[in-house]
Amino acid sequence: MKVFVAGATGQTGSRVVQELIARNLEVKALIRDSDKAKEILPPQVELVVGDVLKPETFSSHLTDCQILICATGAAPSLDFTQPYLVDYQGTKNLVVAAQEQKIERFILVSSLCVSQLFHPLNLFWLVLWWKKQAENYLEQSGLNYTIIRPGGLKNEDDESNLVIAEADTLFEGSIPRQKVAQVCVEAISRENAKNRILEIVTSSDTAEKTWQQLFAVN
Ligand SMILES: NC(=O)c1ccc[n+]([C@@H]2O[C@H](COP(=O)([O-])OP(=O)(O)OC[C@H]3O[C@@H](n4cnc5c(N)ncnc54)[C@H](OP(=O)(O)O)[C@@H]3O)[C@@H](O)[C@H]2O)c1
Repeated sequence: MKVFVAGATGQTGSRVVQELIARNLEVKALIRDSDKAKEILPPQVELVVGDVLKPETFSSHLTDCQILICATGAAPSLDFTQPYLVDYQGTKNLVVAAQEQKIERFILVSSLCVSQLFHPLNLFWLVLWWKKQAENYLEQSGLNYTIIRPGGLKNEDDESNLVIAEADTLFEGSIPRQKVAQVCVEAISRENAKNRILEIVTSSDTAEKTWQQLFAVN
């Protein structure tokens, strides 16, 4: 099985790649900067230099992939078009390419609170709103999907336990990026993660659960 990862040089995307390689899955990485990619990604990863805003740079590279994981995101900037472009239009471009190339599962890293228009994060050029529009587009695409909505992302992994909940039920909390990556990769093989929106945080007050129990949430 080969997995196409968009945003592979990002802080979450690079961890997704590590988790895939650790499970002996083949990885094709969509990257913008090959020097950066060679520095941070394992050598066996196949690199595709491209941009989610330019479908012609990546679309044909999906042909031999079965799974697409999207961990792209607009970087904070004064350019008000970035969340619209990267978090909506770019994801939409990936969805269209995934439809054309018959991708079997599209896994999207989104965010908690995307359904809340008046959330403070929308002061960053409506980023949550644009992520929600991308989610809607994916849900209506006919593709098999898993939308993963993490809480605030942390770089340090820790011993806290995962919480997975249904859409629009968690409104605060945080999670290490490594655990987000693990959920993305675990979702690939979980039949009950298909066509679901999963909200994820970690908590030190919750008991450890198996993947089976975590994905059984309803
Ligand atoms: N920060 C939080 O607390 C938080 C909370 C919940 C959800 N999220 C969301 O979780 C996701 C991952 O976050 P993160 O902080 O790990 O991301 P990140 O480190 O900012 O990485 C974003 C990735 O997107 C890529 N990218 C941006 N524009 C692109 C384009 N036009 N074409 C191709 N790739 C492009 C970047 O490429 P380069 O490497 O080339 O720059 C980078 O690899 C994002 O969608 C973010 O909004 C974040």
